[in-house]
Amino acid sequence: MTLIISADAASAATRLADILEQAILAQPNLTMGLATGRTSSAAYEQLVARHHENTELAFRHVTTFNTDEFVPLPATHPMSARYLMNYRLFRHVDIKLENTYIPHGDAADLTAECRAYEAMLKARGGLDLVVLGLGHNGHVGFNEPGSSVKSRTRVVEFTTSTLAALSDGYRFTSIDKTPRQAISMGMGTILSAKHILLIATGISKAHAVHRMFDCRPGPSVPASLLLAHPNITVIIDKNAAAQIAELPPDTIHIE
Ligand code: GLP
Repeated sequence: MTLIISADAASAATRLADILEQAILAQPNLTMGLATGRTSSAAYEQLVARHHENTELAFRHVTTFNTDEFVPLPATHPMSARYLMNYRLFRHVDIKLENTYIPHGDAADLTAECRAYEAMLKARGGLDLVVLGLGHNGHVGFNEPGSSVKSRTRVVEFTTSTLAALSDGYRFTSIDKTPRQAISMGMGTILSAKHILLIATGISKAHAVHRMFDCRPGPSVPASLLLAHPNITVIIDKNAAAQIAELPPDTIHIE
């Protein structure tokens, strides 16, 4: 594992954007898994700016698979992953929309939709890398506590605490308007990526980061299951690192 501790949220986003830029330049037909949250979007914003400055940073041959989508939101809902990704990233770069995969949260047959998503990912050769945010309870994608290390794309039910977090007024204005479910890549799907990149910033993520590193890895903190991956880079800022007890010094890069 490589753990990068940046001075603040903006520098952490820059660091993630650096890694993504290098990955796309090195492999123009990269297949990326993408999270939709605010933290990862800060890096996407920087990628967009770099794309406009450097024509070599092209998305023409890039394929993306988002980690999750709310059920039963249609793509036209402004809080759907599809809407947000189009708005924040896809429409600003030269990616082909048909190469941007996000599960359909309003699919009539959700089980078939999940199966088709996994099949599409397999047909595209799997994920070269996956960008993840971190939920306050240690979830990644929408793999809530208890998710099996072998889980694949499926419908998940939100825990009470995730429902409360989602209805914070930023995403959904009240519990009544908050979806109860999502389609999420599973932990097994995420762990099959060649490189895992997790970003978490701000004091509100400090407890989840602490639990990820300081508890015995297990399904009760899904993010901790990622630590067994041979190629994982965790980018956090000082605030998010505030509660980590102790880590092997050779893994840490303080910037
Ligand atoms: C949810 C989403 C993830 C996102 C995470 C963190 O769990 N399913 O895709 O990465 O939240 O979001 P944020 O960066 O907005 O805190």
